[in-house]
Formats: sequence, structure tokens, C-alpha cells
Amino acid sequence: MSKKIASARISTQSSALLQELNQSLPFDKVLYQEDIKGSLSHSKMLYKQGIISKEDYKSIKQALKQTRDEIKSGKFSLDGDDEDIHMAVEGRVTQIAGDSGKRLHTARSRNDQVAVDFRLYVQKNTLNIASLLLENIKTFTKIASKHTETLLPGMTHLQHAQPINFGYHLMAYVSMFKRDYERFMDAYNRNNLSPLGCAALAGTPHNINREMTAKELGFKAPTLNCLDSTSDRDFALDILYNISTMMMHISRLSEELILWSSSEFGFVTLSDAHATGSSIMPQKKNPDIPELLRGKSGRVYGNLISLLTVMKSLPLAYNKDMQEDKEGVFDSVRTATLSLKVLNEMVDMMRVNSDKMKSACMIGHLSATDLADYLVREINMPFRDAYHITGSVVNLAEKKGVDISQLNIQDLQKIDKRIGEGVVALLDNKASMNARNSQGGTATSETKKQIKSMKKWIKREK
Ligand code: ARG
Repeated sequence: MSKKIASARISTQSSALLQELNQSLPFDKVLYQEDIKGSLSHSKMLYKQGIISKEDYKSIKQALKQTRDEIKSGKFSLDGDDEDIHMAVEGRVTQIAGDSGKRLHTARSRNDQVAVDFRLYVQKNTLNIASLLLENIKTFTKIASKHTETLLPGMTHLQHAQPINFGYHLMAYVSMFKRDYERFMDAYNRNNLSPLGCAALAGTPHNINREMTAKELGFKAPTLNCLDSTSDRDFALDILYNISTMMMHISRLSEELILWSSSEFGFVTLSDAHATGSSIMPQKKNPDIPELLRGKSGRVYGNLISLLTVMKSLPLAYNKDMQEDKEGVFDSVRTATLSLKVLNEMVDMMRVNSDKMKSACMIGHLSATDLADYLVREINMPFRDAYHITGSVVNLAEKKGVDISQLNIQDLQKIDKRIGEGVVALLDNKASMNARNSQGGTATSETKKQIKSMKKWIKREK
């Protein structure tokens, strides 16, 4: 049995099992900085509003700072049996500041306290993840600008489709990461409101000033409705969803890197710093990093579904179910942060095997569409007829065991006399890639425009 911490009404000792089930300190202790920050603002406001005396404020402030130092240095351990970080900090402050410390909880409740602590944590990490995304965007764009002429087989259904350039492929991921970045910043701005001062659910009769604490804590303004704000966890769901979508993008890239680093493709070689060996097969070099990044998307989706399920059907306002909101968010934030750091380093250091990419473009008659487009454009042939004639040309190339780009004019005219001399040059893979110069297309000129516009955007965001 253990002592009852936060209760004036319950007299018997708590069951040790209740204590174990109820306690959030083992995981919410990571919020100690936010908790102390919130308490510093709250106590300052109480003093400025004439709710506590200057002397009480001074000793509370000193005790809060001392508590922070003690936690940092390990002198005050957060492994005790306090119910949560809020009780642990308040308890230590009261030990240090005596009766003044007992005034800290005036005009607030743990319900607004946890809402503000958790929101501060989410806001801070939202900005951190966004800036790591920006680092990746810069790295990918830098590599893309070196590879706007590096031929790569563009695929659909994982089958060779049309020649593109490697820079263009990378810019597709940069576009995804830019959307991810914007999603995090949107959430940051939407959630930049302070729930502090909402107390248990209905506000407080004390003459508090919520504007003051909101500004002091870096929020734009206080939230509108206390019943909502003490039980709203949308901000946590936002970061979980944003991380999930970002990790989904990373998992697609990881899948490609795993394929590309295999002997079948050989398009890239991961640095030895990012590859692992096998315990039994001495010759092996495994792409564990992209495999782990791919796998970690599963766990962050789990955290999102888990919190959605916790929140489903909860009556207003705070319910203890909501204590289940934190561990999944901490886990997803840790996962996302590490994944972005590793990804940036791995992509920056990997070797791009341009020759392998180029020779792979000779498989699959990638420029076949260019012949059909030529017939439509130059001799006004209906597309469906052009499609069939091109099919016959492909069959001929297959029979000769060559790529369509290796056929000569005699070969082509054997299928249709109307095919003119100029076609042979059009069927070259590089020409085919550069022919796709419509807006957003793969032509080197268009890829360069995409890179330029992305670099402009990066400059604005910095
Ligand atoms: N540890 C709690 C949580 O994480 C803090 C809020 C407790 N509030 C309460 N009324 N029991 O949700």
C-alpha cells in the first residue's frame, strides 16, 4: 500500500496496484521542462494580478528554478512514487519554498497543466521535425541538381516505362517532403493557443490573465473554450498524423533504396557507414537502415490509431483515459527525429551509379511512346493506329534482340514506309527524356526549373 498523493477526500491507503496503474511519472517525466516553464508563467501571472504576494512569487520562482537544476543534475530523482510530473514538481517546490509553494496551484488544475505541458512539448517538436525535414529537402535538392542528365528508367507497376533523369526522381521526394513540412507548420500555427488558466474544466473565479501567460509561453493567444481545451488532444493527433504521412513517404523511398542497392539493380551503393553485415555470410552487405525506416512507418501508424481510439467517445471534459495520450506521441517523435537524421546522412553519403542507371534504360524499349507520338504529330496518324504500328516495331526489336533505340531506319521502314529518317534520333533515351518538356515533366530543362523554384522556396523558409 502506498500513500495517497492527490486526494483530500480518500482516507484509506491506495492499493499498490492502483499506484502502478495510475502513475504516469515514469513516462511524463520527460515533460519536466515544460511543466516548470508553465508554472513559472502561472506564478508570475498570479503575482501580477495580485492573487499571490511578491514574497510568495519570489520563493516559488526560486524553488521552481532550483527544482529544474536538481532534476537536470540528477539530484532530485523523478523515479519516486509521485503520481505524475505535476505532483512531483509541486511536491519538491513545496519542500523548498514551504507555505509559499502551497500557493502555486491556485487558479489552476492538473487538467489545464497537462494540456499546456503536452502542447508545449508537441509545438517544440513540431518545429524541430520541420527543420529536420528542411535539411533533407536541401540535401535531396543538392543531389538532384547534380543529376538532371543522369538517365534512369522511370517505372509504373515497377516495370520499365519511360526514361527520366535521377534528379527528377529525387525532386518527386522533395515535393512530398515539402508538403510534409507545410503540414507540420500548419499544425504548429493552428495549435499555437494556450489552454493555461482553464483550470479543471470551467475556468476559475480568480481574476487571472490568460493573455499574459499565453504570450509569455510563446503562444499566439489563449484558447476560446475551457471545456474544450482541457479535453482537446487534436494537437497530439495532428503530430501523429503528420509523422505517419511523412514516414509513409520515407517508407516508399526506403523501398526504392533497398531495391536499388540490390545486385539486380545496382543503381546506388550505400556507404559502408550505413550498411550492416550478416553474422553468418561474410560477403553480405545489408541495407538495414532503409529496412528499419520502412518498418518504423508501421509503429507510428499504430500510435496514431491508438490515440484516435483512446479519444473516441470520451465524454467532456477530462477523463483519465487521456493519460494514455503521451507514450505514443513520445515514441513517434523520437522515431521521426532519428529517422530524418539518419535519412539525411545516408542519402548524402550514398554513391549514385549513373552507368548502371543508364544501361538499365536499354531494357524495355523505354522510348516506344516517342515513336507513337512522332506518328501522330508528323503524319497526323490516329493515336490508336500509331500505337499498333509501334507495337510491331517493338516486336521486331525483340526478334532482333535489341532495344527499340538501336533499330536503324531500314528496320523501321520495314514496318511502315511513312516513318521518316528523323525518328532514329528521337528514339534515343536521352532525347526521349528531354522530349518530355511539358510543365512538371522530366526534361532536363524542366527538372532544372523545378530545382530552381524549390531553392527559392527553401530560401524563404530559412
Ligand atoms: N497524469 C495526468 C495525465 O497525464 C495529469 C492530469 C490528471 N488530472 C486529473 N484530474 N487526474 O493526464
